[in-house]
Amino acid sequence: MRVAALLMAAGRGERLGGGEPKQFLPLLGRPVLRHAAEALLRDGLVDAIQPVCADEERGRVDSILAGLPVLPAIPGGATRQASVLAGLEALESHAPTLVLVHDAARPAVPAGTVKAVLAALEEAEGAIPAQPVADTLKLAEDGAIIRTVPREGLHRAQTPQGFRFSLLLSLHRAAPGGATDDASLLEAAGHAVRLVPGSEENVKITYPGDLERIEAAMLPRMLPRVGTGFDVHRLVEGRPLFLCGVQVPHALGLDGHSDADVGLHALCDAIYGALAEGDIGRHFPPSQMQWKDADSAAFLRHAAGRIAARGAVLANADVTLICERPKITPHAPAMIARVASLLGVPEGRISVKATTTERLGFPGREEGIAAQAAVSLLVPA
Ligand code: CTP
Ligand code: MG
Repeated sequence: MRVAALLMAAGRGERLGGGEPKQFLPLLGRPVLRHAAEALLRDGLVDAIQPVCADEERGRVDSILAGLPVLPAIPGGATRQASVLAGLEALESHAPTLVLVHDAARPAVPAGTVKAVLAALEEAEGAIPAQPVADTLKLAEDGAIIRTVPREGLHRAQTPQGFRFSLLLSLHRAAPGGATDDASLLEAAGHAVRLVPGSEENVKITYPGDLERIEAAMLPRMLPRVGTGFDVHRLVEGRPLFLCGVQVPHALGLDGHSDADVGLHALCDAIYGALAEGDIGRHFPPSQMQWKDADSAAFLRHAAGRIAARGAVLANADVTLICERPKITPHAPAMIARVASLLGVPEGRISVKATTTERLGFPGREEGIAAQAAVSLLVPA
């Protein structure tokens, strides 16, 4: 393996308030950790990511990072440096030439940073992105200035930091301690560490307000896209009735190759439409036996996966079921909860409602049920 990356996610986020650790908080609807991993992969130069997290969070981290080139998460230690050492030890059997060490709390690494860090490693044993300090620096105690500290030559270190793997492993093994970044181990041992330009975007979420600032900076780069979907299935005897992922008691059920859940089918088509990725029939051809009587929840999970794969966010979804009977209103809260959980979004972003056609046409004659859906996505421009 040429380039491995450690994704450091074993911290507890005490400075943010000590609630849910910051790497798990939602940023534009997806965990910060997922953004950080995707950012590492953006330049296409990282072969595998090794996540390091609290022992009890390993399952959660693996599922958040599903679908990316990641190794199973391993447990970290009490300090960031102990966590990095654990990660390096886990990578040893993969024998990477170069290793990047990145904070999971930095979700907005711009394109080009990983490339610049790796390029600088051609000539140095370490390289880090850093920003020159612009503000005048004051040393203070108890709210009063002691003196002004010269800022000339001072830089703020960011991650991902890059190193020759074997050197970083041996330095960490030799000096376990409390370093807050990895370059400092090379500095102390007299190795050259190059600076490459950092970015004001590449903020480490540390204090309250940081997450909101990153989100505000990302939002203008997302374009709203709308999709619509429509589906009809015939009502027949002897089939259960599934609508929006919920089984509804009724004398008739919908006929179709899968479970014929018109609500979920219309919703999937709306999502595929917003992404310009075809329709449900393209992703799940009715000619394939494996989808016979399939639970349509699998289709919606796939559509949700496509939203995530495109780095998009579901702003809202609105489904209208068109039928005389059964009455939908009593079941709408359960349908909303089910759809929200399948899509991994808060319930407030989902609407399920119903209308009749005043007894006109096929829904009026109760020959079938129709559904239409509209979704709005925010997709990276
Ligand atoms: N980190 C880690 N293991 C630790 C401590 C920190 O893997 N024992 C990770 C954090 O998850 C974070 C990165 O190192 O992604 C940078 O650390 P920091 O910003 O200090 O995060 P926390 O330790 O979580 O925050 P705080 O110091 O406010 O508690
Ligand atoms: Mg910390």
